[in-house]
Amino acid sequence: MGEVIRVAVVGKGGSGKSTVAGTLSRLVARQGRKTLALDSDPMPGLALSLGLGHITEPMLTAAVEKDLNGRWQLKKGIGGARAVSQFSIEGPDGVRFLQFGKADELGLGTMFASVSGFGQVVHRIAEDGVLSDWSIIGDLSAGTRQTAYDWAPYADTYLVVVEPTWKSVLTGRRIVRLAEQRGAEHIHLIANKIESNGDLDVIEERMDLAARCVISRDPMVTTADAAGVALIDHAPESSAVASIASLAEGLEGD
Ligand SMILES: Nc1ncnc2c1ncn2[C@@H]1O[C@H](COP(=O)(O)OP(=O)(O)OP(=O)(O)O)[C@@H](O)[C@H]1O
Ligand SMILES: [Mg+2]
Repeated sequence: MGEVIRVAVVGKGGSGKSTVAGTLSRLVARQGRKTLALDSDPMPGLALSLGLGHITEPMLTAAVEKDLNGRWQLKKGIGGARAVSQFSIEGPDGVRFLQFGKADELGLGTMFASVSGFGQVVHRIAEDGVLSDWSIIGDLSAGTRQTAYDWAPYADTYLVVVEPTWKSVLTGRRIVRLAEQRGAEHIHLIANKIESNGDLDVIEERMDLAARCVISRDPMVTTADAAGVALIDHAPESSAVASIASLAEGLEGD
């Protein structure tokens, strides 16, 4: 087994980030790796795609306290390793899952403490080296913002998920530029919801990148989402899972 895998899954809203991140996490864990799945999207996604169901809980509220300036800071003694062991939960295939929480009707306000803690934890993970034998897969929120503001400092690889629409391509292109500015070692195009060679040609041409992974439009993804279960449990033999499995194999060699 090769090195650890450290990826951020990014792209426009609805492009397929959570499907890719959740399925990839399960497959990486099945390779026998310690796997941490990180969800920094305030909208529902990764927990469902992993097979954990709908979890709204802000997970790092108890990890932080206010400092003298009224800012949320990780409590003394809580670094990256401690935060993961104490506050993450275990999902299928042994994947550890940590999220900053889901926005409720009141918005982000009630989970602000956990969001602050999450931001500090991901930076500690990147700096400390204490989780150096863990593979990490992050599901980032839609669009460019979290790449611009460094919400995945642990990632050396960005998986930019693009579906065949202009809006998805335009967002994907901006994220590629931002990931380049971040100094990402690898930036891979994941072409999703592909129905024809033409779809793929258009994406590759407009992105000016060859796709590292091509995922067909697959009705199994829709039915898994409708049922609120993980694609890999719902349809393990589906073409979408097969495509993500070959991506997982390839990442090992990067
Ligand atoms: N390969 C595919 N074939 C068919 N439908 C797909 C495929 N990939 C994703 N979808 C559908 O597209 C929608 C968005 O997928 P997903 O939630 O994975 O994307 P996302 O980028 O995480 O979205 P969000 O920005 O809302 O977090 C879902 O309804 C899902 O079922
Ligand atoms: Mg999502």
